[in-house]
Parts: sequence; structure tokens; C-alpha cells
Amino acid sequence: MSQPSQFAVFGHPVAHSLSPRIHQAFAQQSGIALEYRAIDATPEAFAAAVRGFFAAGGAGANVTLPHKGAAFALADERSEAATRAGSANVLSPLPGGRLAAHNTDGAGLLRDLTERHGADLRGRDALLLGAGGAARSAAWALLDAGVETLTIVNRTPETADALADAIGEPARVHTRYWDDLANLGSYDLILNATSAGVLGGGLNLPMSLVGARASCYDLAYGAAAVGFIAWATAAGARHAWDGLGMLVEQAAEAFALWHGTRPDTEPVYQALRAG
Ligand code: ATR
Repeated sequence: MSQPSQFAVFGHPVAHSLSPRIHQAFAQQSGIALEYRAIDATPEAFAAAVRGFFAAGGAGANVTLPHKGAAFALADERSEAATRAGSANVLSPLPGGRLAAHNTDGAGLLRDLTERHGADLRGRDALLLGAGGAARSAAWALLDAGVETLTIVNRTPETADALADAIGEPARVHTRYWDDLANLGSYDLILNATSAGVLGGGLNLPMSLVGARASCYDLAYGAAAVGFIAWATAAGARHAWDGLGMLVEQAAEAFALWHGTRPDTEPVYQALRAG
């Protein structure tokens, strides 16, 4: 009998990753035999670990913090989504030992916002907090989905400016200073793409940002999203969502790339939510 194909998620730390559970659930649902494990690699060891995994016949890898930039850098080919984000969460083997990088975070975010939560992003004034790798994916996704304006605010303003410059739509995309958040008025849609929650810190955001019918979304989930969700709720947001659905949807996009079939994400999402 042939071995089931081998998949993995690379991160550091990675023991907490839900990706093995999600991909195994998708595989079971689709009748596909695979093994999916979590591989902890330090930044120094990452490239060699990835090369070793694919040299041994690995069929695909997800990449999580802190390796998404390194995954993008080591690939031989890059999808448009990865190139726009400057980072990759999916690596796939190409003939001759080469690797392709892709980024499914933006597509996963849009699926979760629009299909799971029913959000209509067209015509919205969106505020994006953060300008790192996660924020870059989110920015492009929001623009693709038709937001009217996108205001990017980052603690380090130069990074927000660089993202806005890379997007190159000055009529739609603006940057503002973090210190000025209290003076910006309110938004329909506020996304937290900072890693403050993941790092165990808070953001101390003014409640004036939250418009009367605002939807607030944290790209993180679990304990990392609690502070932002509590702030949004206290400020009167109509909706306050965490990024658990995005996690499941970005995994489904990767699964579709590898296996040619998109799984039904809802039962997997509900099981994780319940757990
Ligand atoms: P990720 O891949 O999660 O996006 P990243 O690329 O390291 O991680 O980006 C982290 C983002 O969170 C950055 O926008 C960072 O702001 P800086 O560019 O100023 O570093 C933001 N961030 C992290 N901690 C923060 C905090 N305590 N307050 C505000 N922004 C924070």
C-alpha cells in the first residue's frame, strides 16, 4: 500500500496550531488519505527544514508565524496574492525540486466576512489597524471586495505609508497616525491586523472609531482577540468577530489548491468554535 501524502505546518512555536486538526477534518470529509503534522522550526532552521520536508516527498506545507516572509523569500515562483502580501502561508512543490509560494489569507478573510458573516463590504469606509504581513493581505482583499475607502494606521507610520504606496490607489487608500486615532471620526468596518493581542498586549483604542452600524473584526482568534472584541462590543459595534473563521477558510483555500476540491468549512468551524 502506498503511503498517504505528507503535509505539514511550519511555525515557531507551532504546538498550538489548529491546522493539523482542520486539514485532517477536511481530508476525512473528502475521503482523501493524508498525514498532516506540525513542525517547529526556528527562523535559522526554517529554510533547511522546508527543503528537507519537500526533498523527502512532502506534498504541501502551510507556514505560520514567524516564517511567512521567509517562505515567500525562499520560493521559486510566487502567486499574485503572495506577491501583493510579500508573504506566503502555503508552499507547494514544483517539478525539479522547486517551490511555489501562495497566500490564502486574504481570500480566507473575504470568505469569512462575506459568506459566513454576510458582511457587504462594497461602499464601506474601512479602517485597518496594522501594516505587517497579515495587514497587507487584508488590505488587498478589502480593496478587491469593493470597500470605498481604506485608511491604514500603523504604530510605525512608515510601514503604513509603504503599504499604501505599494497599493498605489491614493484616491481610495489613506494613511493616518496612530496618535491621531481619536480624531479620525468613525468607520463602518474596523479590522485589527496588529499582533498586539498575540503578543499579549492591548491597543487602547478610542471608542469614537466605532460607527453606529460598524462591524469589527480581529484577524486573531482565541485569547489574542479577546481585548479587541471586548473593546468593539463596549463601543457599541453591531458586530464583533474574531478570526477563527478566517483560519478555517484560509485552510480550505490551501486544501483546494492541493487537492482540487474545496471542503465544507462550516462543520469544521462549528466544531472548533464549540471546542
Ligand atoms: P503579522 O504577520 O501578524 O502581520 P508582523 O508582520 O510582525 O506580524 O506585523 C505586526 C503588526 O502589528 C505591525 O503592524 C506592528 O506594528 P509596527 O509596524 O509598528 O511594529 C503591529 N503591532 C504589534 N504590536 C503592537 C502594539 N502593541 N500596538 C500597535 N501595533 C502593534
